[in-house]
Amino acid sequence: MSIRELSQLQNAISWNTRKTPVTCINVIQETHDVKTFQFQADDAQLFHFKPGQFIGLNLEIEGQKHNRSYTIASSPTRPHILEVTIKKEAGGAVSPWLHENIEVGSSIEVRGPAGRFNNLDTPSKKVLLISAGSGITPMMSMSRFWTDLQPNKDIVFLNWVRGVEDIIFRREIALLDSRNKNFKPEIICTQPGLSENWLGKRGRINKTTLNDMVPDLAERTIFCCGPEGFMEAVKSCLQVLDFDMANYHDESFDPGGKKKKVSLAKAELSKINLLEPTKREFPPIYSLKLKKSKLELEVKPNDILLDVLESANVDIGSSCRGGNCGACHVVKLSGKTHTRTEDGLTDEYRQQGHILTCTTKLLSDVELDI
Ligand code: FES
Repeated sequence: MSIRELSQLQNAISWNTRKTPVTCINVIQETHDVKTFQFQADDAQLFHFKPGQFIGLNLEIEGQKHNRSYTIASSPTRPHILEVTIKKEAGGAVSPWLHENIEVGSSIEVRGPAGRFNNLDTPSKKVLLISAGSGITPMMSMSRFWTDLQPNKDIVFLNWVRGVEDIIFRREIALLDSRNKNFKPEIICTQPGLSENWLGKRGRINKTTLNDMVPDLAERTIFCCGPEGFMEAVKSCLQVLDFDMANYHDESFDPGGKKKKVSLAKAELSKINLLEPTKREFPPIYSLKLKKSKLELEVKPNDILLDVLESANVDIGSSCRGGNCGACHVVKLSGKTHTRTEDGLTDEYRQQGHILTCTTKLLSDVELDI
């Protein structure tokens, strides 16, 4: 089956269930502060998603609800298991709790896949996967996918870590390397330390090392994931090397959204505000009907849809609150809305009538399929 055919199949049977109860079937200690959690659905459910996408975890910790998004590390070619690989963030409210409390047999609820960053919507011949730290998880999903379906896919896999003890999936990367002649991994340590006689590459990313490690850079499609500063460094190197940035894709959870698009959207919004409410003596109150919840709410023109739903205790999940991650999508059945930015919405979801609630305001009465 070609990638295109598989992509079409994925679209036809997409897993977009809002809430899926799952049970943990395995926990793997990847490094001193990173664990992989494997889940199976409680009801028969195959996890169809695109490598690079993420899921939301609905958690209740000491009586408080928490929603967190994590990239899926497993591959849709093995759809019975859903896997997330999570670093324990010191001082975090959720990841330490997950590390300490989720074990085999634990039950949680996950929300279906979201996110535009994936390798199925971006056809490619040769790829370069660049990551730092936990940014390796979408790269692992893509690598597992390609090596399952296209063992000859030309993949350069670069991962920057601080020390040897921070290398995630170390043995599996070596296994993929040994079984796929065109899978070329390189782990680069910025501070290898003294714990091991590290014979691999060292140092931070710069244009010289990038060019040396990937001499055919210009022929590759790049997927990049890591901390914001790392991705900025990667982009600067690529620009200096005259790389065609149309072939560069990265994962960003910038909660403020992309500044250029926001200011454009503000201009659009001010036009709409001029056209709509000024003709009325009082601002209109719109009716928001929620079909499945059997609720009807009153909404003012400046209300953000996600805030309205949360105030009514309708839990749909959210993460970035800036239109980038796609976690807060719902299906709109009728009515007019204005969305400031919808970078996080995939093309299929858009065609299926989904909207992002965190960046949407109502322009008329609206009905949603929730
Ligand atoms: S919460 Fe991320 S797009 Fe709405």
